[in-house]
Amino acid sequence: MSASKTWSGRFDKKTSSMMEAFSSSIAFDNKLLEADILVNKAWAKALARIKIYSDEELQTVLQALDRILIDYSEGNLKFQSGDEDIHSAVERWLTERVGELGSRIHCGKSRNDQVATDVRLFLKKESSFIVLGLQSMQECIVELAEKHVDTVMPGYTHLRQAQPISFAHYLLAFCFQMQRDKRRLYEFRERCDDMPLGSGALAGSAFDIDRKMLAEELGFKTFSHNSIDATSDRDFITECIFICVQVMLHTSRIAEDFIIWSSEPYRFIDIAQEYSTGSSMMPQKRNPDSLELIRGKTARMIGNLNALMNLMKGIPTAYVRDLQEDKEPLFDTLWQTRLSVRIMNGVINTLQVYPKQMKAAIDPALYATDVADYLVKKGIAFRRAHEIVGKIVTWSEEHNTLMQDIPLNTWQGFAEQFDDRVYALFDPQKSLAKRNIPGGTGPASVRQQIIKAKEMLNSDALFEE
Ligand code: ARG
Repeated sequence: MSASKTWSGRFDKKTSSMMEAFSSSIAFDNKLLEADILVNKAWAKALARIKIYSDEELQTVLQALDRILIDYSEGNLKFQSGDEDIHSAVERWLTERVGELGSRIHCGKSRNDQVATDVRLFLKKESSFIVLGLQSMQECIVELAEKHVDTVMPGYTHLRQAQPISFAHYLLAFCFQMQRDKRRLYEFRERCDDMPLGSGALAGSAFDIDRKMLAEELGFKTFSHNSIDATSDRDFITECIFICVQVMLHTSRIAEDFIIWSSEPYRFIDIAQEYSTGSSMMPQKRNPDSLELIRGKTARMIGNLNALMNLMKGIPTAYVRDLQEDKEPLFDTLWQTRLSVRIMNGVINTLQVYPKQMKAAIDPALYATDVADYLVKKGIAFRRAHEIVGKIVTWSEEHNTLMQDIPLNTWQGFAEQFDDRVYALFDPQKSLAKRNIPGGTGPASVRQQIIKAKEMLNSDALFEE
């Protein structure tokens, strides 16, 4: 059945059914139902304060709105083809239940201020789920890091072996990245806290609505100061998608590292079976699909951000229907980010770590920086030391001799300052221990980082919802 339109008075022809389907957002904005009910209830109370509803009528309307939410969640309410969006559907359901009282509810409000208010309310809640997901991922990173302070591995730059690092140090990098993501979400939530309701279609409501009380009622800190801005602003949606994309970028980079490190030539780690899949043809395969999907979904999320920015760049300044196109990219991004964070959490929680393989993979040439530093401590300028050690590395390659097996007189042929203490440099633990500078990969420093990370996690107030 087709519902009659909220704007049908001015029309004497029926909307084409193709147009109805084309313009309807109900298939995705139904996610806003709860927020829309809250907004309608708050608005009904505001209308009662200006005598549009009597106290008794208000109670009837509030109860009906609560009932709609219950009936919908129990699957007892169906949309109709003419329901343009969730706001029209709620008004229809309300009017079906309370008659003329329902048809009074839209007095002084517009779907333009309503949708902007609904989405902000929705995001204040939704953003907390991502914060919680990040927080538990951080906790599981710290937990794993605590076990691997002394686990050495080759550190890579340009995906070429660079210097020995602690595996815990590597892991903690993500904990600090996610802390920035969380901070962004906290600040974002602040910016969601301006309530647009009362802005009408663009010029403000003509009824004497107490916006301060309305904002308090809905849990907003404050209300918007300009009705044109309030009804056409979607900065908060672009920002939300950006923050999610940033979370995805971080998660995708861990995914990429784990894919490489679990592959045959490395075998530093293994992805648990719970997060792997097999091949329909090759019986031996166990593929890291969880991680590949995170990486792949990140591409789509970046596309969503791009869609939003393109959507906003050239529209005239007030509500236009283009703005309805903000929702699918937004909901998709929020949901996929939430899922990806949870999946990564599971991957980290069940990760198999192989410290022996990590240590065995360290190429002795990785101590080249330590050898150069040794010469510096003997009074040679670093640039000169770098050159000498570069030649030693080449010598070792040409003579097929590991650096720690080069005879002392050969070392001394390159620089007379070498003595037999040079051999002690080829020890990963000693190499790490030199780097206890704050933020460095030395074990004392990594332990400090763990303390810092725990402090951060304990002091972060999580959102109440
Ligand atoms: N479904 C619409 C949206 O998401 C709600 C606002 C409709 N406003 C209008 N004037 N047609 O943007």
